[in-house]
Amino acid sequence: MNVLVVGGAGYIGSHCVRQLAAAGHRPVVIDNLVFGHRRAVAPGVPFYDVNLGEETAVGSVLEEERIELVMHFAAYAYVGESVHEPLKYYFNNVVATLGLLRAMRAKGVGKFVFSSTCATYGIPEKMPLVETMPQAPINPYGQTKLDVENALKALARAHGLSFAAFRYFNAAGAAEDGAIGEDHDPETHLIPLAIDAATGRRPPLQVFGTDYPTPDGTCLRDYVHVDDLSRAHIAVFGQLEKPGAALFYNLGTGTPTSVREVINAVEKVTGKKVPRTEAPRRAGDPPALYADASKARRELGWAVKFNTIESIIGTAWKWHSAHPEGFGR
Ligand code: UFG
Repeated sequence: MNVLVVGGAGYIGSHCVRQLAAAGHRPVVIDNLVFGHRRAVAPGVPFYDVNLGEETAVGSVLEEERIELVMHFAAYAYVGESVHEPLKYYFNNVVATLGLLRAMRAKGVGKFVFSSTCATYGIPEKMPLVETMPQAPINPYGQTKLDVENALKALARAHGLSFAAFRYFNAAGAAEDGAIGEDHDPETHLIPLAIDAATGRRPPLQVFGTDYPTPDGTCLRDYVHVDDLSRAHIAVFGQLEKPGAALFYNLGTGTPTSVREVINAVEKVTGKKVPRTEAPRRAGDPPALYADASKARRELGWAVKFNTIESIIGTAWKWHSAHPEGFGR
């Protein structure tokens, strides 16, 4: 299929582009390079430096490239920032996405794969999280993703749009061959910060909160390899053949891992100490978030290849040690 990957130069999008090509599809990328990296996209992949909300420009790409399905990864995703700058998040994550959907409708493109998040669940009452549990986001970032999920449901009903929304848990790791990986600016995620603390590129890691009601007092998260996430996006294609399909899937390994366990695994993989300090809780961090991903396994035949935290961190370490400056700026 000809697949438009919106945000294909970003972390998860760029891994998906490679998986699409490996599976015999034809990816086409649009990315405004605000957070994406041109070098994350192989030279042979058609690339357009376009904003997703620019309906006319996006419409031309859809038409010229004979796009059959759109995957949408482009979003602002800093939870803390979303609290302080909600307009930025609503405009980019909701309004611009509606522009993209309108361009698709105008050009008759009826299949859509959307990056949603476990942040749409808010602070869950029960764990592991199942797709049918209540969604009550506690920050604008999660709310913008839920708003798009709801718009997609309405479009499926009204116009027969077929979509899958994937609720990611903690995307981590890098391509197995070390060619591309995680490079955020600013970086806020635990694994890259722990690796950089170990190599001395950054100051000691701050452990945000050691008094959570968890076995070792630190937060539990569900780290899932970025290539495993990407494979689910392709595994869903068959389900989108049915007009009006409205599908939601959690993507996680189902294994809760604490911050301390991540640090231990980084030390094991790198063979270096992770200098650290204990710091207060970070605002907005739920104590535990992990997935029941049995629906994706059952319906998509999805299975994770990287099922230990060490195997995920191993790929991140390969990328970061070979590219300490990321893609370069
Ligand atoms: N953490 C630290 N020190 C750090 C960074 C993180 O202790 O320097 C802790 C956090 O408190 C959290 C865990 O490590 O307990 C993971 O934090 P990340 O920032 O790596 O990831 P989050 O779980 O906060 O964020 C992820 C996604 C978001 C999504 C969110 C939903 O990256 O896009 O889950 O809660 F919104």
